[in-house]
Formats: sequence, C-alpha cells, structure tokens
Amino acid sequence: MLRKGFVLAIIACLAVANTVQSPFPDPLPLKGPFFFVHDPSLVQRPDGKYFLFTTHDKAGIITATHLDGPWTVVGSILPNNSTIQLPGRDDIWAPDVSFHNDQYYAYYAVSTFGSQDSAIGLAISSTMEPGSWVDHGLVYNSTTGDDFNTIDPNLSIDEHGNPVLSFGSFWDDIFQASLTKNLTAVNSNPVGVSFNSTSPNPEEGAFVWKHDSFFYLFISSGLCCGFVADDLPPPGDEYKVFVGRSTSAHGPFLDAKGIDMRDTGGTLVLGSHGNVYAPGGQVIFTDRTTNKDVFVYHYVPAIDSPSPYNDSFSSLGLNGIDWSSGWPVLTEL
Ligand SMILES: *[C@@H]1O[C@H](CO)[C@@H](O)[C@H](O)[C@H]1NC(C)=O
Ligand SMILES: *[C@@H]1O[C@H](CO)[C@@H](O)[C@H](O)[C@H]1NC(C)=O
Ligand SMILES: *[C@@H]1O[C@H](CO)[C@@H](O)[C@H](O)[C@H]1NC(C)=O
Ligand SMILES: *[C@@H]1O[C@H](CO)[C@@H](O)[C@H](O)[C@H]1NC(C)=O
Ligand SMILES: *[C@@H]1O[C@H](CO)[C@@H](O)[C@H](O)[C@H]1NC(C)=O
Ligand SMILES: *[C@@H]1O[C@H](CO)[C@@H](O)[C@H](O)[C@H]1NC(C)=O
Ligand SMILES: *[C@@H]1O[C@H](CO)[C@@H](O)[C@H](O)[C@H]1NC(C)=O
Repeated sequence: MLRKGFVLAIIACLAVANTVQSPFPDPLPLKGPFFFVHDPSLVQRPDGKYFLFTTHDKAGIITATHLDGPWTVVGSILPNNSTIQLPGRDDIWAPDVSFHNDQYYAYYAVSTFGSQDSAIGLAISSTMEPGSWVDHGLVYNSTTGDDFNTIDPNLSIDEHGNPVLSFGSFWDDIFQASLTKNLTAVNSNPVGVSFNSTSPNPEEGAFVWKHDSFFYLFISSGLCCGFVADDLPPPGDEYKVFVGRSTSAHGPFLDAKGIDMRDTGGTLVLGSHGNVYAPGGQVIFTDRTTNKDVFVYHYVPAIDSPSPYNDSFSSLGLNGIDWSSGWPVLTEL
C-alpha cells in the first residue's frame, strides 16, 4: 500500500511537471503529406539528396531534397521480395543502409511477429534509387531455441577497422558478431552486449555510433506497436530509447551511472512526450549540409493523427544532438 501510494505520488508529480515543461524537445515539423516510417535509416548522397528507408513496403524508399520535406515515397529496396526463403520475405523489416567500398549496403531483416525463424540479408546499390538494388541474400539467421533473434541489423566499424554486426530483439536481447571483410557473412559466434532482465526482456533496434573517443550503443526498449488508444500499456512500457557507451565497439557499454547494459543498464535519451508516443527504431546520421549530427527515429502520434496511438500512422522524428556532456542530449533541429 505504502509503496503503491508513493509510486502514485511520484507519477502525479511527473504528470504536473510534464504539463509545465517536457524533458524532451519536439521533433522538426515536416512539410508535405503524411508518409509511414518505422525503424528508419537515413542516408545523404554526395549530391545532397536524402534517402530514408523504412520497415514494410518491401523496405520502402522515401526521398527528399530538404530534411524538413516534403518527402516522397519512391519505391522499395526489394520490390521482388527477398531471395531468403522464409515467411516475411515479401515484407522486410528495419533496413540499415551505410556506405562501404564505394557502394551502399542495406542489411535487412526477414521475419514475422514473435518468430525466431528470422534472417538478416544484404542488398547492395551504387545509387540507392529504386531498381538499383541487387539482393545478395542471407548473411545470418536464427531459429527456435537460439538465445537471440536475428532482426534489426546494424553494421558498424570497430576501433581496429573491422566490421561488427549488432542485432537482436527480445529473447536475450542485443548481440554482436563479426563480419567477413567483404561484409557478406558472419564469422564469429554472437556475444551478448545488452540485456534487460525484466520480462518480457524488451530490447531491440540496436545501433553503434562513434563520437570522439567513445562508441555509443543505442537501443529501443519496450513495446513498439499494436497500441489501442483506450487500452495502452502501463506508462513507460512503450518504446523509448536508452544509451550506454564504451571505448570499444564491442563493449562493455556502461550507462551514465556506470551500470553495464548487460545488467539492465541504460540512460534514457528519449521517451514519450506531447504528441510523441513510443519513440524508437533510432539512428544517427551526419547532415553534410549543416555538418550536424541528426537523431532519427519513428514515433506514434498521440494527438495529431486521424487515429491517435495507431501505429499505422508511425511518423518520422528528427532532432539535433548536444554531445557536450559526453552523453547525447536531444535538441531542437
Ligand atoms: C512476393 O511474395 C508474395 C507473397 O509470397 C507473392 O505473392 C509474390 O508473387 C512475390 N513476388 C515476386 C515478384 O516473386
Ligand atoms: C523484378 O522483377 C521484374 C520481372 O522479372 C524485373 O523486370 C525487375 O527488374 C525486377 N526488379 C528488381 C529490382 O530486381
Ligand atoms: C539457420 O537456419 C538453419 C535452418 O535453415 C538452421 O539449421 C541453423 O541452425 C540456423 N542458424 C542459427 C544460428 O540458428
Ligand atoms: C566473402 O568472404 C568469404 C570468406 O571470407 C567467402 O566465403 C565468401 O564467398 C565471400 N563472398 C563473396 C560474395 O565474395
Ligand atoms: C548503423 O550504424 C552505422 C555506424 O555507426 C550508422 O552510420 C547507421 O546509421 C546505423 N544504422 C541504423 C539503421 O541503425
Ligand atoms: C527494462 O524493461 C522494463 C519492462 O518493460 C522497463 O520498464 C525498463 O524501462 C527497461 N529498462 C531498460 C534499461 O531497458
Ligand atoms: C489504425 O488505422 C488503420 C488505417 O487507417 C485502420 O485500418 C485500423 O483499423 C486502425 N486501428 C485501430 C486499432 O484503430
């Protein structure tokens, strides 16, 4: 009773504080019509054009010449489905695009909701335009009984210049494995780098980003989707973004209090506020136009939507990042 009353009192204080000032800045207002985005990846070509990639639509491609839009849905990475023969090959989740060997590499996931029969695949393009992507198929897979689920891939380059693939979703959460030099196959056993011990162990959407002398591991924690406006999960159980950092791309990643992310550590970067509900699927990119780091994520509109809290209206969130404390603090863009 006492504990419950105490918790309720804290929630009441937070609610009051929230109406005064949100702890998080609002995302950049976007011009143009609504477009769906989930688990975004954002890359800018040398000519300045922005390419945004999304879950569903066979790994949808959305482009713009200005960050604040208008954004145009132009096609898919895999219009003819993935060559990986697993259920979900005609859907495609969480494309992760980055530039290597003079080409754009898109790691993507083939799976279905709640299944561990999942695979990470790779498609390569020299322009990122629809019709230019060549599917190279399977990079790595998981199956029932593994500690991990091979979705939400992210390729990063470690302190020795070697490629490392981060991935994972629920089960024992976030893992890393090394890739061959040609970036097409995994050549080590996966190692766990982040784990939330509270059931249902809800971590996914990992990526590793180097800034100054640290590697930062960002994760999305909580429930991503399937919200119903009058039956939301308890506040805080929906998606939100945590970070930890390490001097190595392989960890151990510690949060601002020194807690290891393998022991349910994580410093909150972004949570629900105002119109932004369940933000996650995050990634960072450096805008060549302004030379600024941009924090990119999706969120479910809680107010400004034809159907509040409905993830069919999942939207693009863009914020700036203040790194001056050694930890990422979001700013207005
Ligand atoms: C993609 O997959 C769907 C569902 O299995 C199938 O109906 C469709 O024919 C496939 N498209 C191609 C080009 O193979
Ligand atoms: C998809 O398949 C069609 C028909 O075979 C082909 O013309 C087209 O080039 C393919 N698209 C891609 C991106 O592979
Ligand atoms: C990948 O899938 C195959 C079955 O197609 C399975 O034998 C293998 O164990 C899977 N790999 C992992 C790491 O689970
Ligand atoms: C990539 O390298 C591995 C060994 O490091 C090799 O087995 C594989 O065939 C190579 N793949 C391609 C597409 O070159
Ligand atoms: C994956 O990590 C790389 C390197 O840190 C970053 O450039 C890229 O944006 C990340 N992508 C996603 C989708 O997390
Ligand atoms: C761990 O999971 C619980 C239950 O969803 C959640 O309340 C908590 O914020 C999570 N913590 C981290 C660091 O992921
Ligand atoms: C969410 O929106 C979609 C598209 O408008 C609609 O089909 C679906 O029924 C909505 N779901 C809920 C739970 O309202």
